[in-house]
Amino acid sequence: MTDVSGSTELHLDADSAEQMRAIATDVIAPHLRAGDLLILSGDLGAGKTTFTQGLGDALGVRGPIASPTFIIARTHPSEVGGPALIHVDAYRLTSLAELDDLDLDTTLDDSVTVVEWGEGKAEALAADRLHVRIARERGGELDMTNPEGGRREVTIVAHGQRWAGIDFTVGASDPSGDLG
Ligand SMILES: Nc1ncnc2c1ncn2[C@@H]1O[C@H](COP(=O)(O)OP(=O)(O)O)[C@@H](O)[C@H]1O
Ligand SMILES: [Mg+2]
Repeated sequence: MTDVSGSTELHLDADSAEQMRAIATDVIAPHLRAGDLLILSGDLGAGKTTFTQGLGDALGVRGPIASPTFIIARTHPSEVGGPALIHVDAYRLTSLAELDDLDLDTTLDDSVTVVEWGEGKAEALAADRLHVRIARERGGELDMTNPEGGRREVTIVAHGQRWAGIDFTVGASDPSGDLG
């Protein structure tokens, strides 16, 4: 892991879907609480939903977590008395302000909200947010028997006062083997 600007931006590698889930479970989830907003970006098949599955496991919400295609948002209630997980596909939204108009069975304040395709649309909703950018590593060898496979680079950028002073490396186990 390289921590390039104090505790607010960091880079991790995920060599497999399991490692992607572990980044969510071990690095991010321990710091989350009700009211938090995460924006996930990355191409189709990058691993946004896979990441969200790891969050859901760690938060103890009712699954299964799947791509929210064809619906805009799905609420996963907590099974452990914690915050619900609201999983949003913002692909067809122009602004996340529209989220307030959806009937979600819970409020954003009582939930952890994860938005796939939310980049550039979140500013209307919250100044405090975590951006998780997922990219397929370029230059790696493409395995034609498994085109979905391979390493992903995960960049986590924290925006706003909510995340000031939070160090994601604290309390994390070592999902990618290189947290130092
Ligand atoms: N390193 C990796 N990280 C995340 N997913 C991976 C990785 N390697 C392979 N995969 C696979 O790639 C696919 C990612 O799909 P998904 O999480 O639905 O992407 P998205 O939601 O970004 O469209 C899954 O089938 C997952 O098992
Ligand atoms: Mg998805």
